[in-house]
Amino acid sequence: MADKTVWFITGAGRGMGVDIAEAALAAGHRLVATGRNTKAVAGAVGEADDVLVVTLDITSLVSAEAAVRAAIDHFGRIDVLVNNAGNFFAGFFEELTATQIEQQLTTGLVGPMNVTRAVLPVMRKQRSGKVVSISSTAGIVGQEFCSAYAASKFGLEGWMESLRFEIEPFGIQTTIVEPGFFRTQLLTSESTTYADLSIDDYAERTAQTRPAWEAMSGKQTNDPAKLAKALVTVVDQKQPPLRWVAGARQLQPSSRRPTSCSRRSMRTATYRRPRRRRALKQT
Ligand SMILES: NC(=O)c1ccc[n+]([C@@H]2O[C@H](COP(=O)([O-])OP(=O)(O)OC[C@H]3O[C@@H](n4cnc5c(N)ncnc54)[C@H](OP(=O)(O)O)[C@@H]3O)[C@@H](O)[C@H]2O)c1
Repeated sequence: MADKTVWFITGAGRGMGVDIAEAALAAGHRLVATGRNTKAVAGAVGEADDVLVVTLDITSLVSAEAAVRAAIDHFGRIDVLVNNAGNFFAGFFEELTATQIEQQLTTGLVGPMNVTRAVLPVMRKQRSGKVVSISSTAGIVGQEFCSAYAASKFGLEGWMESLRFEIEPFGIQTTIVEPGFFRTQLLTSESTTYADLSIDDYAERTAQTRPAWEAMSGKQTNDPAKLAKALVTVVDQKQPPLRWVAGARQLQPSSRRPTSCSRRSMRTATYRRPRRRRALKQT
């Protein structure tokens, strides 16, 4: 029991967070399962000696600090933080209100910062720890109808990439996870908010794009349970990767395919996969 690592996961009441929590437990770790609705979190992950359910709204630093205190009181340490909680404000930039943009950035970027800010003093004291943040393909590829979400995920990537250099000297490692499409509740009305405004110039494209997104809910290609199992294996490595692309890439619904997106995708693919491809061709 003493050498079991402690995983602290945000958004563990539904979606990918539940799968990650279950995979961490199955791998023999202890778990701090957090969420805004502790009843839902407890129902999703179950009760066990190795599980602590704690309330946490990632948009509040005070809430994050209280959750970390509860985790330390109970387990005495935090080895792995998984910044998983998220939501999706979908729509064209101009049709999203300034408040919606702010809400997206608050949950997608400031939220993980809040929780990490609360956890880092613990990890610095330990001189060990792993900070894992769930980004997205939208954190490396821009796409219409995703401008707010992509802004939050690009921000998350830049922050994590920089944070790495700041905390590595304390024995703290970072991993950015970039999932493709997974069958969670992200595209349901509980997690997706469509643009509040309506502008004539966008009307036709909105009329095409929104139903395409809505139709995809529950039909995403990839299985989050598989991602979760693989994520735990990846993070459990002595030296986890700085970036981990999870699940097949798939173009998001769009009224047209932006060339910038295609170019960027190709650049990313060339950057990530050349060695393996070349090695396969040579054999
Ligand atoms: N599913 C995909 O295809 C996909 C692809 C790329 C990246 N991602 C990323 O994966 C992560 C998990 O998303 P998911 O697909 O599992 O979505 P999901 O099924 O909608 O689950 C979202 C989770 O985040 C929680 N959450 C939202 N706002 C929160 C807040 N302020 N404080 C605490 N918890 C909050 C939700 O809790 P409540 O029940 O309290 O709302 C829920 O547990 C997100 O960061 C998302 O951007 C998902």
